[in-house]
Amino acid sequence: MQYSSGMANTSQRPRAILFDAYGTLFDVYSVALLGEQLFPGHGERLAVLWRDKQIEYTRLCSMSGPQAGQHYRPFWDLTRSALRHAAARLQLQLDGEREERLMNQYHHLSAFPENREVLLTLRQRGVRAGVLSNGDPSMLAVALRSAGLQDLLDPVLSVQETRRYKTDPAAYALGPSALGMQARDILFVSSNAWDAVGATWYGYTTLWVNRAAMPPEELGVQPTRTAANLRAVLDFFD
Ligand code: LAC
Repeated sequence: MQYSSGMANTSQRPRAILFDAYGTLFDVYSVALLGEQLFPGHGERLAVLWRDKQIEYTRLCSMSGPQAGQHYRPFWDLTRSALRHAAARLQLQLDGEREERLMNQYHHLSAFPENREVLLTLRQRGVRAGVLSNGDPSMLAVALRSAGLQDLLDPVLSVQETRRYKTDPAAYALGPSALGMQARDILFVSSNAWDAVGATWYGYTTLWVNRAAMPPEELGVQPTRTAANLRAVLDFFD
Protein backbone atom coordinates (compact mmCIF):
# COMPACT_ATOMS: atom_id res chain seq x y z
CA MET A 1 0.00 0.00 0.00
CA GLN A 2 1.38 3.35 -1.02
CA TYR A 3 0.86 6.48 1.04
CA SER A 4 1.62 9.99 0.02
CA SER A 5 2.35 12.67 2.54
CA GLY A 6 -0.66 14.78 3.34
CA MET A 7 -1.40 18.45 3.33
CA ALA A 8 -4.30 18.12 5.66
CA ASN A 9 -4.45 16.96 9.21
CA THR A 10 -3.48 13.27 9.11
CA SER A 11 -2.92 12.58 12.77
CA GLN A 12 -6.50 13.08 13.82
CA ARG A 13 -9.07 10.41 13.26
CA PRO A 14 -11.85 11.59 10.93
CA ARG A 15 -15.32 11.73 12.47
CA ALA A 16 -17.19 10.55 9.37
CA ILE A 17 -16.69 9.46 5.77
CA LEU A 18 -18.18 10.52 2.46
CA PHE A 19 -17.66 8.36 -0.59
CA ASP A 20 -17.81 9.43 -4.18
CA ALA A 21 -20.15 7.05 -6.02
CA TYR A 22 -19.28 6.55 -9.69
CA GLY A 23 -15.83 5.06 -10.09
CA THR A 24 -15.38 4.70 -6.33
CA LEU A 25 -18.29 2.58 -5.10
CA PHE A 26 -19.48 1.58 -8.58
CA ASP A 27 -17.34 0.41 -11.45
CA VAL A 28 -18.29 2.73 -14.31
CA TYR A 29 -16.16 0.77 -16.75
CA SER A 30 -18.27 -2.32 -16.16
CA VAL A 31 -20.46 -0.91 -18.94
CA ALA A 32 -17.59 -1.83 -21.26
CA LEU A 33 -18.73 -5.45 -21.12
CA LEU A 34 -22.14 -4.65 -22.52
CA GLY A 35 -20.57 -2.15 -24.93
CA GLU A 36 -18.34 -4.94 -26.21
CA GLN A 37 -21.31 -7.22 -26.66
CA LEU A 38 -23.23 -4.57 -28.63
CA PHE A 39 -20.24 -3.20 -30.55
CA PRO A 40 -17.54 -5.88 -30.72
CA GLY A 41 -14.04 -4.44 -30.57
CA HIS A 42 -15.22 -1.06 -29.25
CA GLY A 43 -16.52 -1.73 -25.71
CA GLU A 44 -13.49 -0.50 -23.79
CA ARG A 45 -13.00 2.63 -25.86
CA LEU A 46 -16.70 3.45 -25.74
CA ALA A 47 -16.73 3.18 -21.93
CA VAL A 48 -13.69 5.46 -21.56
CA LEU A 49 -14.94 8.08 -24.00
CA TRP A 50 -18.42 7.96 -22.48
CA ARG A 51 -17.07 8.57 -18.98
CA ASP A 52 -14.68 11.34 -20.06
CA LYS A 53 -17.39 13.18 -21.97
CA GLN A 54 -19.86 12.79 -19.10
CA ILE A 55 -17.43 14.49 -16.69
CA GLU A 56 -16.54 17.15 -19.26
CA TYR A 57 -20.24 18.00 -19.63
CA THR A 58 -20.66 18.36 -15.84
CA ARG A 59 -17.89 20.95 -15.84
CA LEU A 60 -19.20 22.78 -18.90
CA CYS A 61 -22.68 23.03 -17.40
CA SER A 62 -21.40 24.04 -13.96
CA MET A 63 -18.99 26.70 -15.09
CA SER A 64 -20.90 28.45 -17.87
CA GLY A 65 -23.11 31.49 -17.46
CA PRO A 66 -23.94 34.30 -17.56
CA GLN A 67 -26.00 33.19 -14.54
CA ALA A 68 -24.49 30.59 -12.24
CA GLY A 69 -26.33 27.29 -12.51
CA GLN A 70 -28.44 28.25 -15.53
CA HIS A 71 -27.04 25.45 -17.68
CA TYR A 72 -27.44 22.77 -15.06
CA ARG A 73 -28.87 19.54 -16.41
CA PRO A 74 -29.39 16.36 -14.38
CA PHE A 75 -26.54 13.86 -14.37
CA TRP A 76 -28.75 11.26 -16.02
CA ASP A 77 -29.34 13.57 -19.01
CA LEU A 78 -25.65 14.42 -19.27
CA THR A 79 -24.84 10.72 -19.13
CA ARG A 80 -27.17 10.05 -22.06
CA SER A 81 -25.80 13.01 -24.05
CA ALA A 82 -22.25 11.81 -23.39
CA LEU A 83 -23.12 8.29 -24.59
CA ARG A 84 -24.53 9.69 -27.85
CA HIS A 85 -21.43 11.77 -28.41
CA ALA A 86 -19.03 8.92 -27.61
CA ALA A 87 -20.86 6.54 -29.96
CA ALA A 88 -20.88 9.13 -32.76
CA ARG A 89 -17.18 9.71 -32.28
CA LEU A 90 -16.51 6.00 -32.73
CA GLN A 91 -18.98 5.89 -35.65
CA LEU A 92 -21.14 3.32 -33.89
CA GLN A 93 -24.81 2.94 -34.79
CA LEU A 94 -26.48 3.70 -31.48
CA ASP A 95 -30.14 2.94 -32.13
CA GLY A 96 -32.80 3.52 -29.48
CA GLU A 97 -32.68 -0.03 -28.20
CA ARG A 98 -28.91 -0.13 -27.74
CA GLU A 99 -28.97 3.27 -26.09
CA GLU A 100 -31.59 2.09 -23.61
CA ARG A 101 -29.63 -1.07 -22.85
CA LEU A 102 -26.46 0.87 -22.13
CA MET A 103 -28.29 3.49 -20.05
CA ASN A 104 -30.03 0.74 -18.13
CA GLN A 105 -26.67 -0.87 -17.46
CA TYR A 106 -25.53 2.45 -16.00
CA HIS A 107 -28.39 2.15 -13.53
CA HIS A 108 -27.12 -1.22 -12.39
CA LEU A 109 -23.36 -0.82 -12.26
CA SER A 110 -21.29 -3.42 -10.47
CA ALA A 111 -19.87 -2.46 -7.09
CA PHE A 112 -16.17 -3.09 -6.48
CA PRO A 113 -15.74 -6.39 -4.64
CA GLU A 114 -14.25 -5.13 -1.37
CA ASN A 115 -16.80 -2.37 -0.81
CA ARG A 116 -19.46 -4.23 1.08
CA GLU A 117 -17.01 -5.71 3.57
CA VAL A 118 -15.40 -2.29 4.18
CA LEU A 119 -18.79 -0.66 4.72
CA LEU A 120 -19.86 -3.43 7.10
CA THR A 121 -16.64 -3.05 9.11
CA LEU A 122 -17.17 0.72 9.35
CA ARG A 123 -20.67 0.14 10.62
CA GLN A 124 -19.37 -2.31 13.24
CA ARG A 125 -16.82 0.27 14.35
CA GLY A 126 -19.53 2.94 14.63
CA VAL A 127 -18.12 5.15 11.85
CA ARG A 128 -20.73 7.16 9.97
CA ALA A 129 -20.35 6.71 6.20
CA GLY A 130 -22.31 8.43 3.46
CA VAL A 131 -22.12 9.44 -0.20
CA LEU A 132 -21.46 12.77 -1.90
CA SER A 133 -21.99 12.36 -5.61
CA ASN A 134 -22.67 14.14 -8.86
CA GLY A 135 -25.39 11.54 -9.46
CA ASP A 136 -29.08 12.47 -9.28
CA PRO A 137 -30.92 11.27 -6.16
CA SER A 138 -32.95 8.72 -8.11
CA MET A 139 -29.87 7.33 -9.91
CA LEU A 140 -28.05 6.95 -6.61
CA ALA A 141 -31.01 5.23 -4.97
CA VAL A 142 -31.32 2.66 -7.77
CA ALA A 143 -27.57 2.01 -7.98
CA LEU A 144 -27.15 1.60 -4.22
CA ARG A 145 -30.15 -0.71 -4.03
CA SER A 146 -29.03 -2.87 -6.92
CA ALA A 147 -25.54 -3.17 -5.36
CA GLY A 148 -27.11 -4.03 -1.98
CA LEU A 149 -25.39 -1.09 -0.26
CA GLN A 150 -28.42 1.07 0.53
CA ASP A 151 -28.57 0.21 4.25
CA LEU A 152 -24.87 0.87 4.79
CA LEU A 153 -24.67 4.49 3.65
CA ASP A 154 -26.22 7.57 5.23
CA PRO A 155 -26.53 10.36 4.23
CA VAL A 156 -26.69 9.99 0.46
CA LEU A 157 -25.98 13.51 -0.79
CA SER A 158 -26.55 14.51 -4.40
CA VAL A 159 -25.18 17.77 -5.80
CA GLN A 160 -28.49 18.27 -7.60
CA GLU A 161 -29.89 20.74 -5.07
CA THR A 162 -26.90 23.05 -5.66
CA ARG A 163 -27.20 22.94 -9.47
CA ARG A 164 -23.39 22.66 -9.48
CA TYR A 165 -21.18 19.67 -10.04
CA LYS A 166 -17.99 18.77 -8.24
CA THR A 167 -15.46 20.35 -8.10
CA ASP A 168 -17.53 23.49 -7.45
CA PRO A 169 -17.24 24.48 -3.77
CA ALA A 170 -21.05 24.60 -3.49
CA ALA A 171 -21.12 20.87 -4.21
CA TYR A 172 -18.44 19.99 -1.65
CA ALA A 173 -20.13 22.25 0.93
CA LEU A 174 -23.03 19.80 1.12
CA GLY A 175 -20.90 17.41 3.23
CA PRO A 176 -19.98 19.64 6.16
CA SER A 177 -23.46 21.14 6.10
CA ALA A 178 -25.28 17.78 6.24
CA LEU A 179 -22.94 16.24 8.82
CA GLY A 180 -22.54 19.36 10.98
CA MET A 181 -18.74 19.00 10.95
CA GLN A 182 -15.80 20.81 9.48
CA ALA A 183 -14.50 19.45 6.18
CA ARG A 184 -11.18 18.44 7.71
CA ASP A 185 -13.01 16.13 10.13
CA ILE A 186 -14.59 14.28 7.21
CA LEU A 187 -12.70 11.71 5.17
CA PHE A 188 -13.66 12.16 1.53
CA VAL A 189 -12.90 9.07 -0.55
CA SER A 190 -12.71 9.08 -4.34
CA SER A 191 -11.15 7.00 -7.09
CA ASN A 192 -11.27 9.99 -9.40
CA ALA A 193 -8.00 11.87 -9.03
CA TRP A 194 -9.62 15.18 -9.99
CA ASP A 195 -12.27 14.67 -7.29
CA ALA A 196 -9.64 13.86 -4.65
CA VAL A 197 -7.79 17.04 -5.65
CA GLY A 198 -10.94 19.18 -5.57
CA ALA A 199 -11.95 17.81 -2.17
CA THR A 200 -8.44 18.34 -0.78
CA TRP A 201 -8.47 21.93 -1.96
CA TYR A 202 -11.90 22.36 -0.39
CA GLY A 203 -10.46 21.27 2.95
CA TYR A 204 -11.51 17.64 3.41
CA THR A 205 -9.17 14.94 4.64
CA THR A 206 -8.92 12.79 1.52
CA LEU A 207 -8.15 9.30 0.30
CA TRP A 208 -7.51 8.78 -3.39
CA VAL A 209 -8.29 5.16 -4.23
CA ASN A 210 -6.02 4.86 -7.22
CA ARG A 211 -7.41 1.60 -8.56
CA ALA A 212 -5.98 2.05 -12.03
CA ALA A 213 -2.43 2.88 -10.82
CA MET A 214 -2.55 6.26 -12.53
CA PRO A 215 0.17 8.85 -12.01
CA PRO A 216 -0.79 11.64 -9.60
CA GLU A 217 -2.10 14.96 -10.84
CA GLU A 218 0.67 17.51 -11.41
CA LEU A 219 -0.92 20.42 -9.62
CA GLY A 220 1.22 20.72 -6.53
CA VAL A 221 -1.44 19.21 -4.30
CA GLN A 222 -1.64 15.72 -2.82
CA PRO A 223 -4.58 13.86 -1.32
CA THR A 224 -4.01 13.12 2.36
CA ARG A 225 -3.40 9.47 1.46
CA THR A 226 -3.37 7.34 -1.66
CA ALA A 227 -4.06 3.61 -1.83
CA ALA A 228 -4.93 0.88 -4.29
CA ASN A 229 -8.36 -0.11 -2.99
CA LEU A 230 -11.10 0.87 -0.58
CA ARG A 231 -9.74 -1.20 2.34
CA ALA A 232 -7.30 1.63 3.09
CA VAL A 233 -10.26 3.57 4.49
CA LEU A 234 -10.10 1.33 7.56
CA ASP A 235 -6.51 2.39 8.31
CA PHE A 236 -7.79 5.85 9.21
CA PHE A 237 -9.78 4.28 12.06
CA ASP A 238 -7.24 1.86 13.62
C1 LAC B 1 -19.69 11.03 -8.67
C2 LAC B 1 -18.89 10.99 -9.93
C3 LAC B 1 -17.97 12.11 -10.02
O1 LAC B 1 -20.22 10.02 -8.22
O2 LAC B 1 -18.12 9.89 -9.99
O3 LAC B 1 -19.79 12.12 -8.12
